[in-house]
Amino acid sequence: MRRLAAAIAVALICSVGIARQSAAPASFAPPEWDQDVKLTEAPDLNSDPNIVEIDLTARLADVEVAPGKKVHAWTYNGGIPGPLIRAQVGDRVIVHFKNDLPEPTTVHWHGVRVPIEMDGVPGVSQPDVERGGTFTYDFLVRDAGLYWYHPHVDSAAQVGFGLYGALLVEDAADQVNVPDELTIVLSDIGFNDKGEPAPPDGGGSAGMVFGREGDYVLANGKVLPTLLARSGAPQRWRIVNAAKSRFFLLNLDNQPFYVIGGDGGLQESPGTTTELLITPGERADVIVTPTKPKDGKLLLKAMLYNRGYGSVEYRTPEDVLTVTFTDEPTLPPQKLPAVHRTITPPSTKGATNVNVVLTLPHVAAGEKAEFHVNGVPSWKAEAYPAKIGETQVWTVKNDSSFAHPFHLHGFFFLPLDEKLQPIRPMVWKDTINVPLEKTVRFVVKFDERPGMWMFHCHILDHAEGGLMGHVHLTQEEQAGHTH
Ligand code: C2O
Ligand code: CU
Repeated sequence: MRRLAAAIAVALICSVGIARQSAAPASFAPPEWDQDVKLTEAPDLNSDPNIVEIDLTARLADVEVAPGKKVHAWTYNGGIPGPLIRAQVGDRVIVHFKNDLPEPTTVHWHGVRVPIEMDGVPGVSQPDVERGGTFTYDFLVRDAGLYWYHPHVDSAAQVGFGLYGALLVEDAADQVNVPDELTIVLSDIGFNDKGEPAPPDGGGSAGMVFGREGDYVLANGKVLPTLLARSGAPQRWRIVNAAKSRFFLLNLDNQPFYVIGGDGGLQESPGTTTELLITPGERADVIVTPTKPKDGKLLLKAMLYNRGYGSVEYRTPEDVLTVTFTDEPTLPPQKLPAVHRTITPPSTKGATNVNVVLTLPHVAAGEKAEFHVNGVPSWKAEAYPAKIGETQVWTVKNDSSFAHPFHLHGFFFLPLDEKLQPIRPMVWKDTINVPLEKTVRFVVKFDERPGMWMFHCHILDHAEGGLMGHVHLTQEEQAGHTH
């Protein structure tokens, strides 16, 4: 509906001669270019152009991730990943959720600035959705960007079994103008020859410390799917890493990624890289221009990235996606959009400093390891106070020998350098990699939504192993009572 309205609006504008921008860019994609990899979309049940209303059911289903390879997965609406939810910025999203799993669950809307009641954290923002139960999620999508959804009950297990999906919030005015666009959900899954998913406690304490990875690397739920391209034609890829532990250091046979955005939408200005790191929970918005090589195809690979012991030793890169080409000649170089966004960093003057140290205390053989945040695991931690309107500068020091993608619920932040200057180009983040034995800094300004907001490592085994906490955001006048 919204599309139609926009088309009419554009037609009206053009008919009175105000050419707001150049004509619609051409699609170069051959027919069915994305047929092998395209996500299923959740049908919008509401005719109101400003409301996206969908049904979402969590249930068991057999999913074929590679020819002859079926897994008894936990799914949203029967697929891995769950359906793509597509909305326009400013829309109201209503999700009629039903739990047909054998366990309680919830849905968390990763990165979306929802009110706390919609954040999907059991016991904090809502009760568990019990087996057979329902819950209606209802919120506005205030910010364009790629987000995602996943459970927040027993999340290492439930995400590992296949529960995750993408929520794309589009902005018709984003000026990117690359019509050949694809949303890619990266993940992995482990299962045995009977199709039973790998146990979430595999490897015991050592498995928790490493962060369990599945043996099958998936792009939109498939092992090594194929995408068809016209050589030299730009494509926009919106990518989310929904794996519970695996990092994706992407390389497209050394062809460049033109990076235009991250977690919270477009970035200040574009950048170029041949190796694109997307840690669990993070998103990337990139333009690629696949160019046909001599052997006729490209491979998108996940290269080795040292996120701790066991991540690079005796391992080789993984194949993620194959790009094949039509027989058409390579297009002459296409002009890529000069994406520009004004991002005003919150002032760090007078900001509250919050220091966080992440550790993995040594334990004797046979004892259970746990991750600590400032000396305590999550189950012994007190909430970190914050007031509405307050700006905080967080310094997150990683004193452990494993990397941690640090995620804050509900709020975007901007990464800072050692001098507390914004790292350029600026991009709003909700998840940031804290490499092993390194420190990252960010500034966050808390808006008007009070509540208990979680932060945690998005290696979900680490989160459950203690690397988790809460920010208690309160009204100024109540702050004295709560802390
Ligand atoms: Cu994707 Cu608690 O987060
Ligand atoms: Cu971690």
